[in-house]
Amino acid sequence: MSRKIVITSGKGGVGKTTCCACLGLHLALLGARVVMLDVDIGLNNLDVVAGLDNKVMYDIVDVVDGKCRARQALIAHPKVPLLYFLPSAHSLNVGRVNGEDLKSIVNELSSSFDYVLIDCPAGIGAEFYRAIYLASEAIVVTTPNITAIRDANKTISLIAGCGITQMQLLVNRVRNDLVNKRLMIKPNEIAQTLDMELLGVVPESDAITVMSSISGDIFKSKDASYEAFESIAKKIHFGESIKRQVGLFGKLKIKRG
Ligand SMILES: Nc1ncnc2c1ncn2[C@@H]1O[C@H](COP(=O)(O)OP(=O)(O)OP(=O)(O)O)[C@@H](O)[C@H]1O
Ligand SMILES: [Mg+2]
Repeated sequence: MSRKIVITSGKGGVGKTTCCACLGLHLALLGARVVMLDVDIGLNNLDVVAGLDNKVMYDIVDVVDGKCRARQALIAHPKVPLLYFLPSAHSLNVGRVNGEDLKSIVNELSSSFDYVLIDCPAGIGAEFYRAIYLASEAIVVTTPNITAIRDANKTISLIAGCGITQMQLLVNRVRNDLVNKRLMIKPNEIAQTLDMELLGVVPESDAITVMSSISGDIFKSKDASYEAFESIAKKIHFGESIKRQVGLFGKLKIKRG
């Protein structure tokens, strides 16, 4: 059976899709069979970020409509064996795909993969719950910004309310020069504030900025962020399973909304 991990945040634009793609890449490079599922239906970008947008034949809506099986819609990454991607649709009619449809797709794929990585949409509406419903573990992404941290806090409560107890925090876009000058909050302080285990830290990356601007394909970004994602993937794959104690005994440092 696969580990089904949703990458979520609450706030938009903090790097969920980037983290999903890069963790998928590195887990596959470690020898795991990985399928990335874009459930940001209507505003999907994972295909572009993974450099696979020109290979899309079928998408999730085709699977739901019975035009093909989930396996037929999968795209194998041409350069990364073991990494697969199930495209979302640019359809504006997002309501057509319900949670049960997606659950049966995930169930069909789960026997063939070690990891199902689910790229969650921003916000805490129905699409958020539809994504959380598919997962048994969550990685909550935040940047070191007060607003992102506050949204992450709310999101953590909502995820816990859905019964997912395995959650970890990934702090993205960290600038160590600012952290050292005490002009940016330290990632471990963010983790303490949110009462979350820190899975990893990804630095602000010029390579990601450049690649996302000129081609979208961020797998070509080779800098400190590449090493950060590699080490986070190792922690996910070889480390203890994602743990988080939530609920009555969680020692909440800030009030959750
Ligand atoms: N570590 C990083 N360094 C530099 N730029 C980054 C980093 N992580 C993400 N970005 C950039 O931030 C922007 C938003 O990233 P991304 O699309 O992954 O966020 P998201 O949380 O998935 O957004 P949405 O909520 O819209 O789905 C992109 O332009 C991406 O290239
Ligand atoms: Mg996204």
